[in-house]
Amino acid sequence: MSDGRTSVRGAVFLGAAAGFRVEDLVLDPPGPGEVRVRMLASGVCRSDLHVLDGDWDRPVPVVMGHEGAATVEAVGPGVGTRPGDPTVGDLVVLAWTAPCGACPACARGEGFLCADPRGAGHRLAPADVRLRRPDGTPVGAYSGIGTMATHQVVAAEAAIPVDPALPAAEAALLGCAVATGVGAATRTAGVRAGETVVVIGLGGVGLSVVMGAVLAGAARIVAVDRVAAKLELARALGATDAVLAGDGPAARAALLRLLPGGADHALEAIGLAATAELALEIVRPGGTATLVGMTPQGVRASVDVYAFVERGIRLLGSNYGSAIPAEVFPDLARHVVAGRLPVGRLIEERIGLGDLAPAFAALRRGDGARRVVVFDQPA
Ligand SMILES: NC(=O)c1ccc[n+]([C@@H]2O[C@H](COP(=O)([O-])OP(=O)(O)OC[C@H]3O[C@@H](n4cnc5c(N)ncnc54)[C@H](O)[C@@H]3O)[C@@H](O)[C@H]2O)c1
Ligand SMILES: [Zn+2]
Ligand SMILES: [Zn+2]
Repeated sequence: MSDGRTSVRGAVFLGAAAGFRVEDLVLDPPGPGEVRVRMLASGVCRSDLHVLDGDWDRPVPVVMGHEGAATVEAVGPGVGTRPGDPTVGDLVVLAWTAPCGACPACARGEGFLCADPRGAGHRLAPADVRLRRPDGTPVGAYSGIGTMATHQVVAAEAAIPVDPALPAAEAALLGCAVATGVGAATRTAGVRAGETVVVIGLGGVGLSVVMGAVLAGAARIVAVDRVAAKLELARALGATDAVLAGDGPAARAALLRLLPGGADHALEAIGLAATAELALEIVRPGGTATLVGMTPQGVRASVDVYAFVERGIRLLGSNYGSAIPAEVFPDLARHVVAGRLPVGRLIEERIGLGDLAPAFAALRRGDGARRVVVFDQPA
């Protein structure tokens, strides 16, 4: 557009009852501290399905997606003055939490728990949007990055430059599944060489937990899913054992047969109360259960308090793999380029924006690890 604005196509979430629709939108130029990006790829994560199902309160309309890689096309005033700022032409991985750097969590070095990240409320500050429908209706961007769109304006802090040798679809996965899963194992749980790890749920996140456990040098990695093909994928990524199980008592018995004293670590990567409870039941005395999967808001799980206390179990929640994106994304990219993180194995299929409905249906069935929307190159 000649007025500095950009024509965009994006998948807009309209509410749990209405679902989503791919729409034509108009994007403002980047303001101070912001960059405009051309999206290259966006993964489809179960968290997008939570949004679609109305499991979590989200303001509408909002462009969906929070796992993306993009090229920087334009930078707003002030961008480029700080080390690490993205510049035009960079390959960037977008972060769904861009820490403010000033709140108590950021001061503690826990930016993943930032109280006021850029893009909070699915708006860029101050409570504003850069996207609109042609009739002027404001449209938000999920977590400030709304990756299921051809272009976005995002906070510079949310656009992390990485090695341009990385294929875009793989770079996209670093932004959620890989940072979350690898970090849950290596940073939140702190898996150490020689330990035993059970991973429950083998989607993009759980398979990344498996890769994280491999990186950490775990001696045994037991992968659990109710879909057999996922177990094969987990073995290909380095799981030493696999258990075809759902969330019932059979899963617990099978795991305790494999690891009679219990595991050093169990990580839940589905988002079910029953499997969160299973994680607590299958760790050894003094072991650590780490919950990564997210339930609908308000779901509670129960703890056998006596056993929990007597056995000295530790229970951790892992948000964004306890990662500071600006520090962790370039590191993960280096691991991928060096062949230590086979992220490409997670990609089941490359799709277009128009294929999102069947992609969500496949995710619901547990079919495939990650589907990735790949955006067309400019004409
Ligand atoms: N903590 C975080 O920061 C964070 C970040 C991203 C995603 N998440 C959450 O992580 C979870 C996983 O995301 P994903 O994209 O990998 O999801 P996914 O749907 O791709 O993977 C879930 C896996 O669990 C399996 N499964 C489902 N029900 C099962 C059961 N009863 N027993 C055994 N296996 C079962 C499925 O077959 C599938 O392989 C979601 O809840 C998502 O919202 C959390
Ligand atoms: Zn995600
Ligand atoms: Zn902060």
